Amino acid sequence: MENNTFNVAVLGAGNIGSAVVARLIDLDKGIVGLNVKKILVRDTKKARDFSKDLLTDNFDEILNDDSIDLVIEVLGGIDPGKEYIDALLKKGKAVITANKDIIADAGCDLIQTAKDNNACLYFEAAVAAGIPVLKPLIESLRGEELTKVLGIINGTSNYMLTSMEEGSSYEEALSTAQELGYAEPDPTNDVEGIDAKYKAVILSLLCFGVSPSSDELFTDGISGITKEDFEWAARLGKTIKLVAQIDNKNGFNARVHPVLINNKHPLAAIRGALNAVVVEGDNINQLVFSGPGAGSEPTASAIIGDVLSACHQLSSEQTNWYPLREFEGEMKSFEDVESSMFIRLSVNDEPGVLAKISGTFGENNVSIESVIQEGRGDKAELVLVTHEAPEKDIKNSIDQISALDSVTTVTSTLRVYV
Ligand SMILES: NC(=O)c1ccc[n+]([C@@H]2O[C@H](COP(=O)([O-])OP(=O)(O)OC[C@H]3O[C@@H](n4cnc5c(N)ncnc54)[C@H](OP(=O)(O)O)[C@@H]3O)[C@@H](O)[C@H]2O)c1
Repeated sequence: MENNTFNVAVLGAGNIGSAVVARLIDLDKGIVGLNVKKILVRDTKKARDFSKDLLTDNFDEILNDDSIDLVIEVLGGIDPGKEYIDALLKKGKAVITANKDIIADAGCDLIQTAKDNNACLYFEAAVAAGIPVLKPLIESLRGEELTKVLGIINGTSNYMLTSMEEGSSYEEALSTAQELGYAEPDPTNDVEGIDAKYKAVILSLLCFGVSPSSDELFTDGISGITKEDFEWAARLGKTIKLVAQIDNKNGFNARVHPVLINNKHPLAAIRGALNAVVVEGDNINQLVFSGPGAGSEPTASAIIGDVLSACHQLSSEQTNWYPLREFEGEMKSFEDVESSMFIRLSVNDEPGVLAKISGTFGENNVSIESVIQEGRGDKAELVLVTHEAPEKDIKNSIDQISALDSVTTVTSTLRVYV
């Protein structure tokens, strides 16, 4: 810090980095004095909205500049950002990152490095970008025992599901999301739940002290969802959302998958590219955080919030981290998680079909909550909702039912949020 002004470097000046630089330059000096000293990019010749004198393509110029107090990482991808953050923290610099990939991969180690070096590490923008949800989880709620976190933490898939609820097909919803810049040309990470999985890993660490591995975190996306599923959801007073669900009651499990959710649940009202995180605990009952989960301006706002926290903390020369939560419970495998399942089947319209299907569920100890059968000529559509039962028992039932002669296809299966 020089003359009460903090020197800042930014790693990356793409979508997010350029919005952050503009906000840093414009920040009210009455709040805090900031001086943008260096900006790391790959191509220093590319036209930018700020002075070329700030640019460098050499990270060591930032790492070894002792006057730089605070570094913002917005490069994207894991390498080289992870190494850079580690090196910066070891030099005692405050680091802010928006990078969910790095924090999901190495958050626990990087927090430890920050603590060991009395340095600060912030990553508010890595989960639900514009919603300040991590700071409450890390600080305000650190003294609370949390029981459950449920979130819509991928804006692209939520945008697409909202369009489908309004009548679009999956393909139409994806194509509009791509035209509007919500979905990448290759949308796999968003539509298959992978992006939400990284964020669920971060929430698991902060809320329960567990970093589940990829294998431990069941992940399913929205690419199998159809307009017809939405029509059925509406008939049942529900909608469909891609959620990350992290429970720590009778064992810890984190998972990402679409659910049929009651229209009265707070997450049902989260439409378009918005995100929301619902946090539950015995003392707090239920807290709901919602707002924009992507976009350069909301993401830059979260980063600026972290900058302000870091400047405040830097004067104390202490890390911003309380001890992470220590997990003392038991891990529950996804197979043992109890779910209620909505199942659509196409069957031959003949006597005894329903008895065979309900018999198969019974043999697997799965009980049926409701059945609707609708004739379609010599075929019928059968829609069943089961009571909650272990995933493995429901899966066995569905495998056996799909092998029955009278069952043409299992058209769709969706977990019901209860
Ligand atoms: N988009 C969102 O809504 C959102 C929300 C939350 C978090 N984030 C996160 O924000 C981060 C940045 O995303 P973005 O969309 O701004 O990325 P981007 O547009 O691809 O920009 C990346 C920037 O980093 C620079 N860069 C990349 N690799 C480099 C290297 N090895 N050495 C030096 N410079 C390098 C690039 O330099 P050049 O300009 O020279 O190519 C570019 O300026 C990502 O981690 C993303 O997940 C994004």
